[in-house]
Amino acid sequence: MDANEIRQKFLDFQTKHGHKVVQPAPLVLENDPTTLFTGSGMQPLLPYLLGKEHPEGTRLCDAQPCMRLQDIEDVGDPRHTTVFEMLGNWSLGDYFKEEQIRNFFEFLTKEIGLDPEKIYVTCFIGNEKYNIPRDTEAAEIWQKVFAEAGVEAEIAEIRTAEAGNKRGIKPGERIFYYDDKENWWSRGGGIESTPIGDPCGPDSEVFYDFGEELQDEAKYGLAHPASDGARFMEIGNQVFMQYRRCEDGSFVELEKKNVDFGGGLERIAAAAIGSFDVFRTSLMRPIVAKLEEISGKSYDNNTDEMRVIADHIRGAYLLAAQGLIPSNKTQGYAMRRLVRRAILRALDLGISANFLAEIVPIVAENYKDLPDSILTHRENALDVLLHEENAFRKTLNKGLKELGKLTKNNKILDGKDLFKLQDTYGFPLELSVEECYREGIELTKDYLKEFEAALKEQRERSQTASKGMFKGGLEDHGEQTVKYHTACHLLLAALQKHISPDIMQKGSNITADRVRFDFNLDHKMTPEEITAVEDQVNEWISADLPVVFDEYEKTYARDTLKAHGQFWDKYPEILKVYTIGDFDNPVSREVCGGPHVEHTGALGHFRIKKEESSSAGVRRIKAVLE
Ligand code: ALA
Repeated sequence: MDANEIRQKFLDFQTKHGHKVVQPAPLVLENDPTTLFTGSGMQPLLPYLLGKEHPEGTRLCDAQPCMRLQDIEDVGDPRHTTVFEMLGNWSLGDYFKEEQIRNFFEFLTKEIGLDPEKIYVTCFIGNEKYNIPRDTEAAEIWQKVFAEAGVEAEIAEIRTAEAGNKRGIKPGERIFYYDDKENWWSRGGGIESTPIGDPCGPDSEVFYDFGEELQDEAKYGLAHPASDGARFMEIGNQVFMQYRRCEDGSFVELEKKNVDFGGGLERIAAAAIGSFDVFRTSLMRPIVAKLEEISGKSYDNNTDEMRVIADHIRGAYLLAAQGLIPSNKTQGYAMRRLVRRAILRALDLGISANFLAEIVPIVAENYKDLPDSILTHRENALDVLLHEENAFRKTLNKGLKELGKLTKNNKILDGKDLFKLQDTYGFPLELSVEECYREGIELTKDYLKEFEAALKEQRERSQTASKGMFKGGLEDHGEQTVKYHTACHLLLAALQKHISPDIMQKGSNITADRVRFDFNLDHKMTPEEITAVEDQVNEWISADLPVVFDEYEKTYARDTLKAHGQFWDKYPEILKVYTIGDFDNPVSREVCGGPHVEHTGALGHFRIKKEESSSAGVRRIKAVLE
């Protein structure tokens, strides 16, 4: 049974049990500043789990693509991935523990055909400090369900993973109590780190037993469900959302209790084929096979590298297919990091030429069943990734050359050297460190501190520059320079609209006859891009849009008005914001000291005279008003 079939079976099964299938959310959630990416199926449903009525009713299910970058360092083992699909079902104040446990057990054993003897489960042991009782209810339901399937299931107390490593499990035991590190679910983790206001509760996790022989006891201790060894793998988690955390840190019962179930599709698919390695499932195996073909090396001997590459390209594809562009900020940077790490690991396999063109279509094929409503940019995904691959290959070659130059005389590199490589050549610190490690190049003991000091020094330099800028920056308020100042706002908005929303102003210099404008972009602008930007600015000029300003509180300007600004942590609490065009749907909105023209019609005709590189990842436009 392949993974696409399992996904469908799950949704059909839940539909049969009265659930409505809801559309999954994009990986980048627009109105959720708490996380970079959607990391669980419940995240987009948060308001409903807290009591809001859902238009589709009280029983919902979906298959939600998720990304957990916090797991990136674990990728390489048989079960961790940064990107995965979470099969989810929810009861919003509808059924509770018994129906959920029966339902999931039936799905696993009847629909997927897993052997009930290989299923082990865990429940919450309770917490005295917060007065939260042991979940005997869930444990007893499990015992009943196992008994009905003819499986012996004694309940045992393990409490912590460390205790379990020493204790192991005894014959007949199948249901285990652990503390909040294992069996409490909130978006923040254990009880103490449950975010204020969030729904949370005890959970009951379900594990599949891949066989005693897989437990490496010397490394991981005795086998038990929460061990890091390979014998047991978690394939599903049923959260009984009974509580909400209050301002004072305590927990109150929710009026309507919910069930939040999530199970990793990749892991259920691995159990279905009896392999403890998710990279052998139908979702990953074709990618790995292609890597074997390109590199001429075997998966068995290069397992770690191939797992990392397969995982990261899947992640980067999903982001690209949702319209994200690699950049140096937040989500765009995470995407860039995935592509770069994949390319570097491929180098370890001896793949030094571009290879994404061969892998990405396989990934895309595997994701063909995901709805268009989230993969809105499928068609462009390959192009975006190939472009990034090319750009990185260039950076890599340049950076490696510079690194070679620096180490010519057996010099020990310090943090300043590494900073220079990053600042001037765009060769990131982590790559320098990896490369030095690989090539046996020595680094000073305090290279990280030295790097940070150099970074801080540079920040202070640019801050001094920005202070001048914020005050209004214009020495000369002559009529022509004021026009250029307004043209800068239109130019930035046009670049963001036509090239990438992640573009930021990196500096500007205005005289009476021209503007010089620096911004981040990783490629030379194409003639088409230049024309599109120029035409856009001229269109806004012709529309003779109003330019207005007002003063606002910083958080209001940033979070509600979504004003563009570069130095939020440096701005004063009250700041001036300029809006061009319709106030509710503006063409441009920027934090700025001004002054500006009152109507864009005053600017005349805008023309880009030159587009060139300024420094690594920064382009410079020289433009005139005629
Ligand atoms: N939200 C739960 C989890 O992420 C199901 O494990």
